Amino acid sequence: DMSEQEQAFQARIDAGVKIEPKDWMPEAYRKTLIRQISQHAHSEIVGQLPEGNWVTRAPSLKRKSILLAKIQDEAGHGLYLYSAAETLGVSRDELLAALHAGKAKYSSIFNYPTLTWADMGAIGWLVDGAAITNQVPLCRCSYGPYSRAMIRVCKEEAFHARQGYDLMMQLAKGTPEQKAMAQDALNRWWWPSLMMFGPPDGDSVNSAQSMNWRIKLFSNDELRQRMVDQTVPQAEYLGLTIPDPDLKWNEERGHYDFGEIDWDEFYNVLKGNGPCNKERLATRVNAYEDGQWFRDALVAHADKKSAKKAA
Ligand code: ACO
Repeated sequence: DMSEQEQAFQARIDAGVKIEPKDWMPEAYRKTLIRQISQHAHSEIVGQLPEGNWVTRAPSLKRKSILLAKIQDEAGHGLYLYSAAETLGVSRDELLAALHAGKAKYSSIFNYPTLTWADMGAIGWLVDGAAITNQVPLCRCSYGPYSRAMIRVCKEEAFHARQGYDLMMQLAKGTPEQKAMAQDALNRWWWPSLMMFGPPDGDSVNSAQSMNWRIKLFSNDELRQRMVDQTVPQAEYLGLTIPDPDLKWNEERGHYDFGEIDWDEFYNVLKGNGPCNKERLATRVNAYEDGQWFRDALVAHADKKSAKKAA
């Protein structure tokens, strides 16, 4: 029993018309978008930390420049996405306050540690690979500002994934120690990367409504399968082994079958008990507090300028 207004809204969605900030929208649509876009923004911001850990230890000037550029892109994506969320009537300050209070979610993946240089390769290849798989369809989602933001974000993510695969390739073709380091990184990042797509469809509370509204175009499991199918041949090309004894091509389905994901681990990370949750949050809170003097100075400067104008 939708209202007439809601029916007209759904009809626009079904016809593929984009919804823009000033258009009427159901409150639940607005809320869902704020939730998803802000979680996405927080993920980009927190996502700088695992890689930031290796900037000072990059093995060459070239690798360091690439890593720095990539991390800066992630900061840009975060700011871009906060702006998209603000078009829905929420302020950046509110969103950051929720993150810093530990109330807002961000992707589970960024609560894992980066133990070796090979992790920079595995993150680019697998984590950014998963991000692209998830985000390319979002370029066609129903909310205009989010869909347009995703176009640029996906172009940059493609570069991130390529640099990660290139790094893995160099290690995999390197000394036995380098190859072992690459294999160890794959072992540790494989399963958490598959968890990025969210709970299995049966447990995904938001999927049905989000798919009706075309905020999501594919289900969590569909995108996860896509990720597995495209990554297995890439691992074979590297001469590395995916840490899943149940991984097997299924001729009938035309897809790879794969093993059971440890969902207890996933939910535990979501509850704040992953290996790095506390450290990540504390780092963001400190960074925000350390920047307070700068934000104060910006406001003081702006006030001075407008006072001069008024005089
Ligand atoms: N990490 C943390 N939380 C997660 C994850 C994850 N990997 N997957 C799902 N969740 C949360 C959901 O946010 C939701 O919590 P909430 O209702 O309190 O908000 C809950 O688990 C149930 O999941 P779903 O009902 O499946 O949630 P949803 O429909 O939002 O789907 C998904 C989750 C696929 C991540 C979706 O939000 C999405 O596509 N987001 C945009 C992309 C994104 O955020 N990427 C971030 C990582 S990539 C990067 O930043 C480099």
